[in-house]
Amino acid sequence: MGSRCFAPIIFLSLVAVCAARPLYPLPSKLAQGAKQPLQTSRPYNIAHRGSNGELPEETGPAYMRAIEEGADFIEGDILATKDGVLVCAHDLILDDTTDVKEHKKFADRKRTYMVQGSNMTGYFIADFTLEELKTLRTKQRLDFRDKQYNGKYPIITFEEYISIALDAPRVVGIYPEMKNPVFNNEHVKWSGGRRYEDIFMETLQKYGYKGSYLSKDWLKQPVFIQSFAPTSLVYVSNLTDIPLLFLIDDVTVVTEDTNQTYSEITSDAYLNYIKNYVVGIGPWKDTVVPVVNEYLQAPTDLVARAHARNLQVHPYTYRNENKYLHFEFHQDPYQEYDYWINKIGVDGLFTDFTGSLHRYQEASSPLPNAKASSVLHKIAALVSSYKNG
Ligand SMILES: *[C@@H]1O[C@H](CO)[C@@H](O)[C@H](O)[C@H]1NC(C)=O
Ligand SMILES: *[C@@H]1O[C@H](CO)[C@@H](O)[C@H](O)[C@H]1NC(C)=O
Ligand SMILES: *[C@@H]1O[C@H](CO)[C@@H](O)[C@H](O)[C@H]1NC(C)=O
Repeated sequence: MGSRCFAPIIFLSLVAVCAARPLYPLPSKLAQGAKQPLQTSRPYNIAHRGSNGELPEETGPAYMRAIEEGADFIEGDILATKDGVLVCAHDLILDDTTDVKEHKKFADRKRTYMVQGSNMTGYFIADFTLEELKTLRTKQRLDFRDKQYNGKYPIITFEEYISIALDAPRVVGIYPEMKNPVFNNEHVKWSGGRRYEDIFMETLQKYGYKGSYLSKDWLKQPVFIQSFAPTSLVYVSNLTDIPLLFLIDDVTVVTEDTNQTYSEITSDAYLNYIKNYVVGIGPWKDTVVPVVNEYLQAPTDLVARAHARNLQVHPYTYRNENKYLHFEFHQDPYQEYDYWINKIGVDGLFTDFTGSLHRYQEASSPLPNAKASSVLHKIAALVSSYKNG
């Protein structure tokens, strides 16, 4: 059934959520022009699934924390519910990030589906309506991260995620992923023969997202659309001039739609092809600088070859915990950021700890206007203390 038919239900459930607890108000009418603009002079701080190092991933609070901590973009994965509503969730199944197993009434929803060539078993988002999903609560995925927020926050919709960015006190971009488009189109149907990608684009257009990279429209509401599926990117490039970014998985993984290997999609010929559609690539960082036994090896030439074609490079994922820091970084996430920004020369970084990347960048390359405003602040403080004195 089409999402249009369910629009009233979504609206009601949003109202219900808002009435109970005004967590995510819909976009305010505040003039965007008055807001502090997106910084464009240093690599982008992309808050991977929100500040998911601290709070359950892809939740309202995780995104709001990332905004407080200095994110340029909040990043999210967009999947489809049984009734065709787009929601923020990384995994096709709910098992690792929600309390679904504690809900007896959903015990019979466990399924096995073929996903990218192998069987996956669990509670699939595509088998739940939005109303059902809203009864679940999220939890921390990783057992060594803070669990105090488990059971508190609901899954949010793509529209609620957009609202959080638009309501931020400064210009904050969004960075949504067309996640598992092959699976979504196989398991969820929309009216009028529309595809998942169409619904995804309609949502962005509804909230006024448009414009090519760095255009006036884009700077007002910055957005990158990302996907691992090249055919989905080519398809939406026909619907929008919003900048697109091609994600590249580990060397052992083939593309979900075109079944191409890592070496095929990182070849010169393929970069020459895909650069007609995208402004950049998003590779898994350990493929750009291979790692053996936690030691860095010589970097590949992928960044140089991408830059030679005017493609940005936004690798993923940077994480503070010692277990993720390769030995050359001496257990210091600032050293990892220094290496990737100053030695490898990337243009954006997907991080689980937006606050750390922000503090690193503020210390190493403060924004000119931030500096000026802090000087003005000091002068104002001096003047006012003089006046008061
Ligand atoms: C997936 O599960 C089905 C049903 O149990 C089985 O027939 C099929 O061989 C499995 N496929 C793979 C790739 O494991
Ligand atoms: C782009 O749109 C045109 C006109 O609607 C259509 O004929 C063409 O097949 C589309 N191309 C892709 C790659 O979807
Ligand atoms: C993907 O390509 C490999 C060879 O590169 C082939 O063996 C396999 O059958 C293909 N899978 C699909 C789903 O087309």
